[in-house]
Amino acid sequence: MARRPMMAANWKMNKTVREAQEYTAGLLPRASDAKEVDVAICVPFTSLHEVGRMAENSAVIAGAQNFYYEDSGAYTGEVSAPMLLDVGARAVIVGHSERREVFGETDEMVARKAKRAVEADILPIVCVGETKEERDAGRMWEKVSGQVGQVVDELDDAGGESVVFAYEPIWAIGTGDTATSEDAQDAIGRIRELLGETKGDGFAGSVRILYGGSVKPENAAEIMAQEDVDGALVGGASLEVESFVELVGAAQNAVAQTDE
Ligand code: PGA
Repeated sequence: MARRPMMAANWKMNKTVREAQEYTAGLLPRASDAKEVDVAICVPFTSLHEVGRMAENSAVIAGAQNFYYEDSGAYTGEVSAPMLLDVGARAVIVGHSERREVFGETDEMVARKAKRAVEADILPIVCVGETKEERDAGRMWEKVSGQVGQVVDELDDAGGESVVFAYEPIWAIGTGDTATSEDAQDAIGRIRELLGETKGDGFAGSVRILYGGSVKPENAAEIMAQEDVDGALVGGASLEVESFVELVGAAQNAVAQTDE
């Protein structure tokens, strides 16, 4: 495998601090077995301080699910990059479709957040993806390339290793309706090609692009086997340690298989 795979959990709006502690305590020893996989857990702000503390000096990357691109000021309800760093976050999901659809985040806001995260040395996991209507109307690529393009315009000289993209078709999120591994490979391969055209082959070869949308232990191996898929962003199946550990194992197996 050309790039180090990443398995990222997206807890969304789930878990109290106590539940987060129990989960993290269960995950830490298991994650260190997967030596060739980056394991990240993106948790609610309320649990981030504790998860960041527990994950310090461990194989697990503590991550947030959102932040705002200004560093401080009159932005009621928001959290900044320095605040994330302060509590040990090393990654952040940016532009998740739920943020775009429920909270009105625009492509421009997403691009500014991605840029700010990179500057702050926090790894942004930038989500892109089309709705069912857009896919049915043959406009998947128009939508996805537009979303990727806006982010790329803001990234200046950042290297491919300083950002992660996640292709998450909206119709596959939380529905049990996973994209076929061919669809995932098709979209992710095209995103990588576009990044090659705009940022150069070095960037395209090192940037990690994850798939997200109803990834579970039963379908992970097939998705992870696709050439351009570098891991997964997982919601529902990341909420239990056991099933998330299985997914991390699938990523580890995919590395072993390409090494053979
Ligand atoms: P899901 O969510 O795995 O529950 O479909 C993925 C995501 O929204 O990141």
